[in-house]
Amino acid sequence: MSHPVPSSVEPSIDFEPVSIGEFQQRRERLLGQLPPGTGVLLRAASQKIRNRDAEYPFRQHSDFHYLSGFPEPDALMLLIKNAQGEIRSLMFVLPKDPQQEIWTGYRVGADGVEARFGFDQGYTLDQLDKLMPPQLQGLEQLYFSFSDTELSAQLQGWCQNLQQRLRSAEQVPQQRLNLEPLLHELRLIKGPAEQQLMRAAGQISAAAHRRAMQKCCSGMGEYRLEAEIQHEFGRHGCRFPAYASIVGGGANGCILHYTQNSDTLDDGELVLIDAGAEVEGYAGDITRTFPINGQFSDDQRALYQVVLDAQQAAIAVVKPGARFDDPHQIALKLLVVGLVKLGLLQGDPDELIEQEAYKPFYMHRTSHWLGLDVHDVGEYKQQGESRILEPGMVLTIEPGLYIAPNNETVEPRWRGIGIRIEDDVLVTDSGHEVLTESVPKTIDGIERLMNQQPRQLTEAE
Ligand code: GLY
Ligand code: MN
Ligand code: MN
Repeated sequence: MSHPVPSSVEPSIDFEPVSIGEFQQRRERLLGQLPPGTGVLLRAASQKIRNRDAEYPFRQHSDFHYLSGFPEPDALMLLIKNAQGEIRSLMFVLPKDPQQEIWTGYRVGADGVEARFGFDQGYTLDQLDKLMPPQLQGLEQLYFSFSDTELSAQLQGWCQNLQQRLRSAEQVPQQRLNLEPLLHELRLIKGPAEQQLMRAAGQISAAAHRRAMQKCCSGMGEYRLEAEIQHEFGRHGCRFPAYASIVGGGANGCILHYTQNSDTLDDGELVLIDAGAEVEGYAGDITRTFPINGQFSDDQRALYQVVLDAQQAAIAVVKPGARFDDPHQIALKLLVVGLVKLGLLQGDPDELIEQEAYKPFYMHRTSHWLGLDVHDVGEYKQQGESRILEPGMVLTIEPGLYIAPNNETVEPRWRGIGIRIEDDVLVTDSGHEVLTESVPKTIDGIERLMNQQPRQLTEAE
């Protein structure tokens, strides 16, 4: 997952890849939590075919990346803490193959896994069935991802093989345990190296949203604005977005996962962009909503200010000791109060919340964890209660209001307006840091940036 950043005369945002030493420390931290006599098995992602000979760009499995930084498909990692508590790391990888490498690029190979990735022993995958059973001998328990059914079947085979060879079950690992809850708790708390990558992902994503605001004009295709976003990501060495970019003009902004991006952006409407860069596997996740012609109308302004107030109040409560759900509750209250003030809902805000009367306008939650996965791993509840925030956690704050074009309970002037504002927030020792603050979100800030320079639709660009 390392993207060499091309040298450029244009300003770039620096980030340091995670060091091999840090990947080693993560493996040690994981094994440090496990008893002697434990094996941990983890599989890399596989290359996926898109159609016939064309493949999807390869993306390493986030868990596998977190523990190794190894960028190739199909590898298998085995970590062992033996009965004496000694630790060993093994990796099985695709073999070096000059003929194949002419087509698909260089491979690290078994030697490279030791020399370049800090594993104790590297082997090639063709040795897997021969070498794995003896490695498992004498272990008490095996941890692997229960969601990996293919590995589960392989493991069954290796254990049977071992049992036949030993003619006794004594030395065959008896317990199978799910690795995911343990590993995902580690991934939930981002260390300094991860924080600087997420800061870079936030800054690059913010630069892309600023570029979109400065390039947007009426008559443009949504896809063209998407291309501006992609241009800025690529300029900083991020070839791929963290998820499919959403560019929805007008009522398309009311479709939460609108990714067709195929319509024309019309004068007088808003455009909602939800897009984030991926930096060394870490996701940025920003939404901004702004007027296509650079000027909010009165109704757009009124509704936008409700969402902005909710978002800022929700961010303000992020700190260690607060609960994950606190920002959502605060945002929800302000959204409903705003809807009542504007006449889109009638009644007492607390009762409307109780009755979920806001659901036609706000149908998603305010936050999710963010990290190697855009909807990152980690429990949201502990002992049935919303989880307490701790330094190193990263969450999004993303309230919105969506007035469906066919909502006949509201005056026609509101219909087809979709607004979401989303930032990425790191919980720090003393409170929080907004990783994505370098893209404006106030009405004045957006209008100022959009109108600093003339925006014209030209064929040349
Ligand atoms: N971009 C996906 C999300 O905001 O959840
Ligand atoms: Mn999000
Ligand atoms: Mn988003």
